[in-house]
Amino acid sequence: MTTKRKYHITTFGCQMNKADSERMAGILEEMGFEFVEDPNQAGLILYNTCTIRDNAEQKVYSYLGRQAKRKQHEPDLTLVVAGCVAQQEGESLLRRVPELDLVMGPQHANRLQDLLEEVFNGAQVVATEPIHIMEDITKPRRDSKVTAWVNVIYGCNERCTYCVVPSVRGVEQSRTPEAIRTEMIELGQQGYKEITLLGQNIDAYGRDLPGVTPEGRHLHTFTDLLYFVHDVPGVERLRFATSHPRYFTERLIKACAELPKVCEHFHIPFQSGDNQVLKAMARGYTPEKYRRIIDKIREYMPDAAISADAIVGFPGETEEQFENTLKLVEEIGFDQLNTAAYSPRPGTPAALWENQLSEEVKADRLQRLNHLVSIKAAERSQRYLNRIEEVLVEDANPKDPTQVMGRTRGNRLTFFAGEIKELKGQIVPVQITEVRAFSLTGERLFEGSPAKPLVGVGAS
Ligand code: SAH
Ligand code: SF4
Ligand code: F3S
Repeated sequence: MTTKRKYHITTFGCQMNKADSERMAGILEEMGFEFVEDPNQAGLILYNTCTIRDNAEQKVYSYLGRQAKRKQHEPDLTLVVAGCVAQQEGESLLRRVPELDLVMGPQHANRLQDLLEEVFNGAQVVATEPIHIMEDITKPRRDSKVTAWVNVIYGCNERCTYCVVPSVRGVEQSRTPEAIRTEMIELGQQGYKEITLLGQNIDAYGRDLPGVTPEGRHLHTFTDLLYFVHDVPGVERLRFATSHPRYFTERLIKACAELPKVCEHFHIPFQSGDNQVLKAMARGYTPEKYRRIIDKIREYMPDAAISADAIVGFPGETEEQFENTLKLVEEIGFDQLNTAAYSPRPGTPAALWENQLSEEVKADRLQRLNHLVSIKAAERSQRYLNRIEEVLVEDANPKDPTQVMGRTRGNRLTFFAGEIKELKGQIVPVQITEVRAFSLTGERLFEGSPAKPLVGVGAS
């Protein structure tokens, strides 16, 4: 009797890692492995790791420590570390955790089968050299049947002084528009309703592809890509992340306003609201330019949802400079903001500077910023009250099986009473009856049934 070998993947970090994990899971299933939720039942464990901040990295070591111990009495266990910690640490990871079988950087995700074959032949393998990322012909094992990620550009050519991403993800590599469209067409045929196009710096897409227009523009910009893929049959919603303010153009904003499938949600990290800090971060824009971008978006799409990332406690940040970040958050009113205290990362310029702030100052600023963020998000949610929103149903509400959950076009998580079997993957009109800072509750509207009378502010 043969039973399938079981594998387990735990993914840390950003959407790029999640997308890579889905492709690696696809490769493992192709090789005959079967997924298991509990890592302790698995014969192969893969940790797809993140090193963006120190606490992300430390989490990996604690997970890994447990499984390394297990391997001491279960020598057949295969242990793989993929992703950004693997790339950053390389061979030194083997010295730290000698039980590891395979250490592989993110650019090697599509090569998992070859690398594992070397492992099964008895080698301990480190794959971290920069390579050209090959198109993967294996079907990813996607977590959702409704929404999917599609990579459009790998890597990052920026040099933000705090950030490890360029050194762990390598230089920008754009996929061809044709490869992206082909993947999207298949997703549409498989019933996926929403696609999020992914890149660290997605609005820089195409700079590395050949060809220029008569006006001297790159032939394949991200805006052109949107026009090229927006009509893929079956796919009803398009999103994209992450945008860099340096490359965000009015042409792109116009395309988003024009193309009905592109959702009115923009994730554009600003990192700091202070010009000096932005300079020290080498971000390449001013707070004024950032404000102008948001104004432009709101000129074309008044209801657009805006989210961003911000860092507090960057080296040398004064109280006044921090207050400029609070001011920007106050003025713009983000629907959501991912905030983090600055964490010095190995190999980045800012980690070597002497003007580091204390953990106390960073924690205090983080807490003050987070407080403002939830106040502003709650204010932003108010506009949804009583409105009818289109919700794409993704799943049952894990806390209440009589409800389903999905997202509005503006990306607000929304709950309403309904049967997941009937509604999964459908776009349903929902009248919003309750609003919270980061989520909404509503009632499904049926065809022919009138909406309730609209009351109060925020009605449309
Ligand atoms: N490419 C995206 C961000 C990718 S990293 C961009 O340029 O906006 C995701 C977020 O992690 C960043 O936006 C930043 O806010 C945060 N981050 C990156 N390095 C960090 C560090 N050293 N300390 C704290 N936060 C960091
Ligand atoms: Fe990091 Fe800057 Fe690149 Fe974003 S743009 S991934 S913050 S280096
Ligand atoms: Fe983390 Fe790597 Fe993403 S460091 S945030 S998983 S690119």
